[in-house]
Amino acid sequence: MRRKIVAGNWKMNKSWPEAQELASALANQGNQFPTEVQVIVCPSSLYIHGLRGILPSSIALSAQNCSQHDLGAYTGEISAAMLASMGVTHCIIGHSERRQYYGETNEIIREQLDACLKNNITPLFCCGETLAERDAGNHFSTVSSQIQQALFQLSAEQIIGVVIAYEPVWAIGTGVTASNAQAEEMHAFIRSFVANQFNQSVADSISILYGGSVNAANAAELFACPNVDGGLVGGASLKAADFTTIIQAAQ
Ligand code: PGA
Repeated sequence: MRRKIVAGNWKMNKSWPEAQELASALANQGNQFPTEVQVIVCPSSLYIHGLRGILPSSIALSAQNCSQHDLGAYTGEISAAMLASMGVTHCIIGHSERRQYYGETNEIIREQLDACLKNNITPLFCCGETLAERDAGNHFSTVSSQIQQALFQLSAEQIIGVVIAYEPVWAIGTGVTASNAQAEEMHAFIRSFVANQFNQSVADSISILYGGSVNAANAAELFACPNVDGGLVGGASLKAADFTTIIQAAQ
């Protein structure tokens, strides 16, 4: 059966001393985390190695992005092989901020996914529509096309190793959360879309996380939706107490 997962996306936040402080607080609260919930922390790649020494091994560390290329003259980039060689086990791929501000297309995202899987890194693959797309009634077609272009070239065995995060762009960092009904509707749609391409047992084994203004107050009801298997949390993951409450809400 699929796992409950809560991942904290720190984005471009925290100095190194602040990052160590937050990680130490999480390490101290780790005994309050339900064992059935997989907890993932996604700090700046610069901090991953240092934080490994602070966080317990039960908390996985994830990068926020990786290059689609294997190696070479790509100034400023980090390859999936480099991440793997530093013991990184997860990587966010296709976050809307990457799509929006850094021109990452579905094609690039597909290549990044391949790079992760080739290096045994679990991709946290993000999809989601803008407000304009939802208002125009195009949210299902947007999300299905993102999923189709990035994931449908994978084998059944490979896609089982991918975590999908549905993150409506209009809910990210805005304080506006999708309603439980909107989240469940889209998650159920994604699962059936994957089932149609692969099969039901593949679809049932994939964790589909919700992301977009998840906080300590709304996490429990979002995670109670049958097709919501946890969350990808931005702002609220920067406070140890709130993140702990969100992790507990996923059990
Ligand atoms: P948010 O970010 O929780 O701050 O809305 C979520 C995300 O971008 O993953």
